[in-house]
Amino acid sequence: MKADLLAAIGGADLARLEDIRVFALGKSGRVTALLKTLGGMSPEERQAKGPVIHGLREAVTEALASRKASLEREALDARLAGETLDMTLPADVPASGTVHPVSQVMDELAEIFADLGFAVATGPEIETDWYNFTALNIPETHPARAMHDTFYVDPTSTEREIVDQWAKAPPMVLRTHTSPVQIRAMQAAGGDTPIRIIAPGRTYRSDSDATHTPMFHQVEGLVIDKGITLGHLKWTLETFLKAFFERDDIVLRLRPSYFPFTEPSAEVDVGYSIVNDKRVIGGSGGGNGGGWMEVLGSGMVHRKVIAAGGYDPDQWQGFAFGCGIDRLAMLKYGMDDLRAFFDGDVRWLKHYGFSGLDVPTLSGGVGA
Ligand code: DAH
Repeated sequence: MKADLLAAIGGADLARLEDIRVFALGKSGRVTALLKTLGGMSPEERQAKGPVIHGLREAVTEALASRKASLEREALDARLAGETLDMTLPADVPASGTVHPVSQVMDELAEIFADLGFAVATGPEIETDWYNFTALNIPETHPARAMHDTFYVDPTSTEREIVDQWAKAPPMVLRTHTSPVQIRAMQAAGGDTPIRIIAPGRTYRSDSDATHTPMFHQVEGLVIDKGITLGHLKWTLETFLKAFFERDDIVLRLRPSYFPFTEPSAEVDVGYSIVNDKRVIGGSGGGNGGGWMEVLGSGMVHRKVIAAGGYDPDQWQGFAFGCGIDRLAMLKYGMDDLRAFFDGDVRWLKHYGFSGLDVPTLSGGVGA
């Protein structure tokens, strides 16, 4: 039996090897049956036949294991000889997203203003009427309310209920500008410490064409301190715009204007030149075909606004400014249709987006 089994094992493949194992060593296998006969033998007989039967089992077990190992080694050798890996093939490039130009510009703003000592402040996008309007010196009857094309957030549905709601309290609004963060920042600071903040974020107005989208982005700036003048405002804006557009030849023009929350107020234009028939921010402002482009609104914070924020307007002064982020991005990076910003077209995002790895941004971005 030993010679037969060893010969069969020597010529078996992997599948046949398993059959032989079951045939010899399985529960009702031949070798197992012989092992069972040991129990019924006399001690003398067992002493004589025991070593032979155990030796048979060991020999078969060993032969099975070594045949199995050599068959597996052969299979591996054959695979290694047959398979080739082409190490020169280009690896699959994993699909990766891009940083949206708006996120990129927000990061740039946060970095530039951080250098000037400004922190980033935030406020809710669903705002109360008081923060969005009243505290900013825009009372209920003020025409500026109509100018803002406000979205009202009203949990009631019928016209009757809306009228009733207005009688009780004005409904919540989607903030029409980032200016309410001025009030929140002043309240948070507690009325007795200087403030330097910017507040970038989403804003909403019921308006839609090539240069307006119902959701857009603004950045608010606010400085509150003692002895603040228009000179500080002008220097800050000039320093910011030079850093943002990465040019030293930025020229500014402050035009007298009107905002309810600043007095005096100024709209700020930045000079552009014509290069290859295109408007480029920097230089000119007049002559050589160049001109002025309006970029932001600003002014000295109105006494009533300082008071609404919990500061004493006889002691504290400040300046504020508000600026469209999407427009800044368009001017710096050359897009001409605002609506494409929010279409989510992957081709546009690939073209105008930034790599999160190549371009240094604040970790996580200010929106995170
Ligand atoms: N909130 C104004 C708007 O959305 C922009 C603005 C103008 C903000 C003057 C200011 C400011 O802080 O001083 O049109």
